[in-house]
Amino acid sequence: MSLRSRITGTGSYAPETVLTNSDLEKKVDTSDEWITERTGIKERRIAKSSETTSDLCLEASKNALQAAGLKAWELDLIIVATMSGDMPMPSTASLLQKKLGAKNAGAFDLNAACSGFLYGLSAADNFIKGGAVKRILLVGAEVMSKFIDWKDRSTCVLFGDGAGAVTLEPSRGKRGVLSTHLYSDGSMWDFICLPGGGSQHPPSSKTIKNKMHCIKMKGNETFKVAVRTLEKLVVDTLKKNKVKPSELSMLIPHQANLRIIKATAERLDLPMSKVAVNLHRYGNTSSASIPLALDEVVRAGRIKKDDYILLEAFGAGLTWASALIRW
Ligand code: COA
Repeated sequence: MSLRSRITGTGSYAPETVLTNSDLEKKVDTSDEWITERTGIKERRIAKSSETTSDLCLEASKNALQAAGLKAWELDLIIVATMSGDMPMPSTASLLQKKLGAKNAGAFDLNAACSGFLYGLSAADNFIKGGAVKRILLVGAEVMSKFIDWKDRSTCVLFGDGAGAVTLEPSRGKRGVLSTHLYSDGSMWDFICLPGGGSQHPPSSKTIKNKMHCIKMKGNETFKVAVRTLEKLVVDTLKKNKVKPSELSMLIPHQANLRIIKATAERLDLPMSKVAVNLHRYGNTSSASIPLALDEVVRAGRIKKDDYILLEAFGAGLTWASALIRW
């Protein structure tokens, strides 16, 4: 029987502070009605000024390890998918390794923006199938709120902070990650970007003055590509595995926009009762959004053994990715 990776534990964490649409009405020229209608978001969580991405990772990871019945020292590898890490160097995964006391684990970060968790899942799956490592902790975590221009209504209403984690272990048989699919098109890199702070525009008074350390997004252009791309992606992923849409138990999409999620579900003729949606409470938490939603549906008992679960994401890069799992 073929060797697969299987998710053996899930966990998540979101900061306590809630920022509602009506709170935002007081900061920028927007309305609860506009945000709800265009995005589906009602509120998001915001980290305290002292709270870092690795702090969020730690809480989500403790929950995932407990669910899996694993101790931190048993981990072979920690992967953190993030684009808002504690600092450019060292990796947030290294800081998490220290906080967890995962003394036997290698650690690295991975940045594929909102597709980061699924890129990480693909990497973890291949590490396990290669036989080199056995127990992996994969975390998607973001403190987006510290990279937002709170005067830019086109972005500040969209994003939120959070973390989701899974443990992956080897498994023989039908259950586990069946396939992962990764894509990118860098020609549209400027659709969503955070241009300052890297080697192209190192930090300077000019980058700060021009708000180049904050997210910029061409929302409408991104929306159109996302809908088209995700509709094809979900169909292709099921076809590749010879699984019919009617056999699917749950779609766990990246939580960027309810209209995008509904269009993807409609393409598969999937009722919304089979779609994990939590963006009304968290907004877009980028690489944290899929593991946060996954943990919620697992803990709510909405996924059963042997169920087919489809995960899909789209984000900066542009990048997009999917995974089919037999739970
Ligand atoms: N409140 C009120 N009005 C707003 C607003 C806000 N927060 N943000 C933008 N607007 C205005 C715009 O200025 C524009 O006004 P105009 O027509 O007078 O120029 C109008 O609303 C429409 O803007 P537009 O950007 O075309 O809206 P939209 O329907 O495309 O919705 C997004 C904007 C961002 C919600 C949507 O495009 C989206 O979700 N994009 C994809 C995001 C995504 O998937 N990202 C990938 C992962 S990060």
